[in-house]
This record gives sequence, C-alpha cells and structure tokens, in this order.
Amino acid sequence: MSINSKTQELKQRMQAALQGGGEKAVEKQKASGKLTARERILALLDKDSFHEYDLFIQHSGRDFDMDKKILPGDGVVTGTGTIKGHPVCIYAQDFTVSGGSLGYMHAKKICKIMDHAMTMRMPIIGINDSGGARIQEGVNALAGYGEIFYRNTMASGVIPQISVILGPCAGGAVYSPALTDFVFVVDKISNMFITGPDVIKTVLGEEISKEDLGGAKVHAEISGNAHFYAESEQECFRQIQDLFTYIPWNNTKKADKFEPKKPNTKEFKINSVFPTNPSQPYDVRNIIKSIADGSEFLEIQQLFAPNIVIGFSRINGDTVGFVANQPNAMAGVLDCNSSDKAARFIRFCDAFNIPLITFVDLPGYLPGIDQEHAGVIRHGAKILYAYSEATVPKITVILRKAYGGGYIAMCSAHLKADFVFAWPTAEIAVMGPEGAANIIFRKEIKESDDPEATRKEKIADYKQKFANPYVAASYGYVDTVIQPSETRKYIEHALEITRNKQQNTPFKKHGLPPF
Ligand code: HXC
Repeated sequence: MSINSKTQELKQRMQAALQGGGEKAVEKQKASGKLTARERILALLDKDSFHEYDLFIQHSGRDFDMDKKILPGDGVVTGTGTIKGHPVCIYAQDFTVSGGSLGYMHAKKICKIMDHAMTMRMPIIGINDSGGARIQEGVNALAGYGEIFYRNTMASGVIPQISVILGPCAGGAVYSPALTDFVFVVDKISNMFITGPDVIKTVLGEEISKEDLGGAKVHAEISGNAHFYAESEQECFRQIQDLFTYIPWNNTKKADKFEPKKPNTKEFKINSVFPTNPSQPYDVRNIIKSIADGSEFLEIQQLFAPNIVIGFSRINGDTVGFVANQPNAMAGVLDCNSSDKAARFIRFCDAFNIPLITFVDLPGYLPGIDQEHAGVIRHGAKILYAYSEATVPKITVILRKAYGGGYIAMCSAHLKADFVFAWPTAEIAVMGPEGAANIIFRKEIKESDDPEATRKEKIADYKQKFANPYVAASYGYVDTVIQPSETRKYIEHALEITRNKQQNTPFKKHGLPPF
C-alpha cells in the first residue's frame, strides 16, 4: 500500500468516526437546542487549539446484540487544548452515540484524559450529556463510574475540575460533577437527578416534570448543586472562559497576574453605596466593586443562599476571593446553606493559593426550629473549620454588624485572620443592643416605674458602650479602625506584605471537617 492510499484510509476512518451517531441523531440533538460534543469543545477552547485523542476507540460490550453495533469513539470525545492560553484536558459525552451512555471503553477514555490532567497538573473539564450507565454493559459500566469518582477525589485540591451539564446527567452519574469544583448548567438543557420523574411516580406517587425536578434553575437556586447558571450554551462557555482568568492551572501555581486597574469609583463610590442609616440594607456587591480592579466581580452561586456573596475579583492585578455577608438578603445571616456555600469556596481558594477577603455585616446565625433541625450546628461549623484551616492570606473588614457567633465565624482574628480592619460604623458585640439590653437589664426594666423609658435608656447605654469597633480594637482583635475610603489602600498593602506568608499546621493524615 502506498503512502497516499494509507493517508487516504486514515482520512476515511476519521471521517466515519467524526460523524458520531449519524445524521439523524445529530438532527435530533440540534432539534433539542443542543450543540454536538465536538461543536461544544470547539466553541469553548481557543481557536485551533483542540487536539483529539482516542478517536478510534471501539466499545467492548458484546451482549444484547451490541457486537453488531458501531459506536464511534464509544460516545465520548476527549483531548487537550487551551482556554485563554491555559492548557486544559477536556472530554465531552456525545449523546448522538447511544445516548452518550457510559460503557467500559467510554469510561476508560475519560479516565485516560483525567490521568493526563493529573500527571501534567492541568485543569480537567467534563461536558456531561448522557443517559447514564450503559445498561447493556452491566457492572463494567458501574466500574467505569467508580473509576471516575476515584480520580475526581484524588484530583480534588490538586487541579481545578469543572463540570458542564449540557443534557441529561442522571443516576449515579451525578456524583462526578458533585465531586468537582464548579458545576455549570444551562436553562432548559441541563437535567440532574438521582432518580427521574418516572421512578418518583412509581415509588412515591408524586408527579413532577424533569425541569422542575432537576432543571438548571432548580440546581442554581434551590439545591445549590450548580455554581454557574446560563441562558444558553454560548453564555455558559463565556462564563467558563472568564472563570479561567481567575484560577491557576494547579495547586502549586498562582493565578495569572493582570494589568492593575482602578475601580470605577464614579459608579461605585463607597459613600453612595453604603447607607448612613445603620439599619438600612444595601447590596454588598457594590462595596466589593468599589474596591476591585475595574469594579469587576465574578460572582459564584449567585442565585443560591443569596445572604452570602462569594466570588473572584482582582486587586492590583492579582486574583482574590471575596466572601461577604449580604445585608440585602435576610440581613446577611449565616444559615445552613450560606455556611455550606462559603465553606466550600474558602476551601477552593485555600487549595489554589487565592487570598481571601472577607466583608462582615451580619446579625449572627439564623435562629429557628427549621434551622436547628436542619443541622445549623453542623453546617455552621463548616465555615469555622474552613477559615481556621485556610493558610492563604486572610484579610477581614468589618463594615457594620459583627454579632455573636457571626463575628467569630466571619474570619475573625481568633480564626487567624492576618489582618482585621474595621470601619468606624462597625458594631462588634455578643448580640444587638436591643436583645442584649432586654436580657441583662430585664429585672431593672420590669421593676422600673416607666419600663419603656428604662428599656430605651439601657439600649442607648449598651449601644454607647459596645456598638462600636473600639472595644475590640482595645484588645487588639481589630488591627486598626480605618476610614471606608481607605479600604482598598489597606487591602492592597495587606496583600503585598502577606505575599510570602508561611504558616505551619500540625501533622495529620487529614482533619475531620463537619461534612
Ligand atoms: C444504553 C441508552 C441509555 C443507557 C439512552 N440510551 N440511555 N443506551 N444505556 N443508559 C440510548 C437509547 O437506547 C437510544 O438508543 C439513544 O440512547 C437515545 O436515547 P433516547 O431515549 O431515544 O433519547 P431521549 O428520548 O432524548 O431520552 C434521553 C433519556 C433516556 C431521558 C436519557 O434515554 C433515558 O431515560 N435513558 C435511561 C436513563 C437512565 O435510567 N439511566 C440510568 C442508568 S443506571 P438508539 O439506539 O435508539 O439510538 C445509572 C447508574 C449509574 O446510570 C451508577 C453509578 C454509580
């Protein structure tokens, strides 16, 4: 055979494999508003950067007439490429081939590219669009999932892991995304559930649509399983590209440095975005934008537990992670969901060398039977654990209220914040003046000739004594009280001098965070 005929044969084999499940299946994919696996990869990666591997993999299942079928690439596309110049490993399940179902060789392909990602210490992106374990392959399909989950766990905290849900992701398949760092969903395209509507109807007699059970909105807003929500696949890819500008390739590196930018202080001026009335709510994202480079802020889990805000920004060109109570939502209280949300983000930042900046304004943990029974003790402890364990630079700014357990939990000096700054508007105390006065002066108020006037007087006394930052500053729990307009300056300096921070922690196999 001449070289020409050999190259011709390669071309033909490639053409056949690149057709995926064929014209009809591709048409069906398009009709449901979805791109194909390769179109997705090309849209996400830098132009001409994608290199595909294992195109000629064949499925290994032979039962149930599977030996008579051809499943090009065994229903998954794998390879490497770059995003904004960052090298990444990627796989995308091809729904046009046997519904993207996961057989033995399909899983082997995914594991191979995951192993590359770990060996080369670069991020892994998985695009999920699959009917789940390939039923005809039985335990080999289950084994495949197990191998993926193991690798997800080993890679956790070493390389960034991104899951993109662009179709069904059902049954045990949902656990790979759940083990990764960021999950992206798209409206009316993503579906995630352990058991679908049919099983729920059979077992429980309850009726619900796929969308209401495990659609994109549900996971972005209610379950908190998704970190980024988009209206379209294109928007989702832009979000991923944006995220990659903030995170490093692996846990030994820092995120890329960008050209420093001044914040847009015309639109986000602290004095105009922070209210003078101490009980008036405000949007803490505007405070973040008032000090962040270019006033840019990539918010994560925007729709879930809105009483805490988390996300990435830059200060002087370097990535930082923000954690901030949101007075606009439930006065910024900590509860089960907001504690989970913040704790996971803090651990991501700590694992990937991203300094943490915490803005504090909260009345404390949310009281109530629901919260107690939902385990607010266990969930609330996660944020304490995550901050205490984190050894990246930790800078805290107390804007207004810092009461009770909330004061301690929001990266106080006691959890080893490197710097705690407080605005003159800060109120640091065991609880709010009203509650405190009612408890400690109960007898005097009750026995007074004019209980209401005495109550007011005692509240005013308590406010005068404790509703300020100076008592905490007098014990050194606050490093300095600063003017709000000086916040960026102090944070910039703190970041500069914590650049080479070294903190030793005691030897242990691993800790036992309150999972
Ligand atoms: C084998 C599958 C499959 C599967 C889909 N297909 N899912 N083949 N195993 N799990 C095949 C179909 O037979 C069909 O093949 C093609 O993919 C397209 O599927 P359709 O049903 O025509 O597509 P659609 O109508 O869009 O429905 C998509 C779907 C549905 C909702 C995902 O296919 C479905 O319900 N599949 C089963 C989902 C499920 O129960 N998975 C859980 C498996 S158990 P042809 O040849 O006709 O094109 C599991 C446990 C894992 O995952 C545990 C890990 C720990």
